[in-house]
Amino acid sequence: MTAVSSAATADATTDARPRGNVAVPSFSVISGAQVRQALHGREKQIIELVEATYRLHGAGDSVNPPSYFLRFPDRPSSRIIALPASIGGSVRVDGMKWISSFPENVPAGIPRASAVLILNDHDTGYPFACLESSIISATRTAASAALAADRLSRGRPRPTRVGFFGTGLIARYIHTYLAGTGFNFDDIGVHDQSPGSAAGFQGYLEQTGATGRITQHHDAESLIRSSDLVVFATIAGQPHITEPSWFAHNPLVLHISLRDLSPEILLASTNIVDDVEHCLKAETSPHLAEKLSGNRNFLHGTLDDVMTGKVTIPTDRPVIFSPFGLGVLDLAVGKYVYDEIHRAGELHTIDDFFHERHRYG
Ligand SMILES: NC(=O)c1ccc[n+]([C@@H]2O[C@H](COP(=O)([O-])OP(=O)(O)OC[C@H]3O[C@@H](n4cnc5c(N)ncnc54)[C@H](O)[C@@H]3O)[C@@H](O)[C@H]2O)c1
Repeated sequence: MTAVSSAATADATTDARPRGNVAVPSFSVISGAQVRQALHGREKQIIELVEATYRLHGAGDSVNPPSYFLRFPDRPSSRIIALPASIGGSVRVDGMKWISSFPENVPAGIPRASAVLILNDHDTGYPFACLESSIISATRTAASAALAADRLSRGRPRPTRVGFFGTGLIARYIHTYLAGTGFNFDDIGVHDQSPGSAAGFQGYLEQTGATGRITQHHDAESLIRSSDLVVFATIAGQPHITEPSWFAHNPLVLHISLRDLSPEILLASTNIVDDVEHCLKAETSPHLAEKLSGNRNFLHGTLDDVMTGKVTIPTDRPVIFSPFGLGVLDLAVGKYVYDEIHRAGELHTIDDFFHERHRYG
């Protein structure tokens, strides 16, 4: 019998010369259509998976080095980011997300971000799958945001007025995850510097039958003041919201785009991050707050600290969740997708992908 490596399907059709219980895995390519199919309607399972992954990361059963930013002198607004990671627990897989952000794509009519995720086998190091990953990335981001919205609003009134600041793909996924995990809103505020994006998002909300009144806000202040849950998902490169008094009603803020808020606003708020070392980098608002204050005292803790009860959230200040976005989340969701497609017998494997298998030919 051909031995099978732990994470991936071994290719039984080739002479892999198994060593112990180790063999060269087969290599599969998983399309965006397959990813979407595997994740559709699974909001609760994915949030549980993301929560378990944060717990593993918090317990030290992961390796998640800093993301690497590739930038281009001739295309300063664009970047490609590498997120290598390794996760233990029952997932036990290594890999890397490679995600591009080209904002000029949007006016040209195609999505800003595109990505692949490579999964590497725990035992052999062999890559065994390449997955379309813009959907995985948006899904893990939205699941993390919905998890944070739930955990950080315990002990205060459940938000009923949500405001979406920046209404692209990530805002759409976050709305889906909030709605899919029991958030019901009386009011949904929408604000985007692009009227076309704002209108498109409103169209999406109406099409999904979202409950609650939808209001377009033409200025930022009105959106923030009328929302008790504010979701920032813009592509701002530096702070453009600088007025702390707009947050006097102590909203819960999901600061997904990381660079919208001035450091003064963070310093007047309770700040929760996903990972301290990751977040205090790359000119994020928490990084600017550290530079301005000269210390990290403004950080209250991580989401894992909240989930494990190490920290509690005061109710008399705004709460800001700034997630840098961890590669371990992409791995966990990517492995979930791989397992689902494998179980359904729908993996598209590439024959002979690893062709040079014998040391001396
Ligand atoms: N923290 C994480 O884990 C994580 C993960 C994925 C994406 N993101 C971030 O989420 C953000 C949104 O991603 P997306 O794929 O939805 O992008 P997108 O390009 O599809 O949409 C962004 C929207 O923001 C609007 N916008 C930009 N600047 C604005 C401003 N100053 N005021 C109001 N509206 C503004 C744009 O018009 C656009 O409609 C990006 O910054 C991305 O890097 C974060």
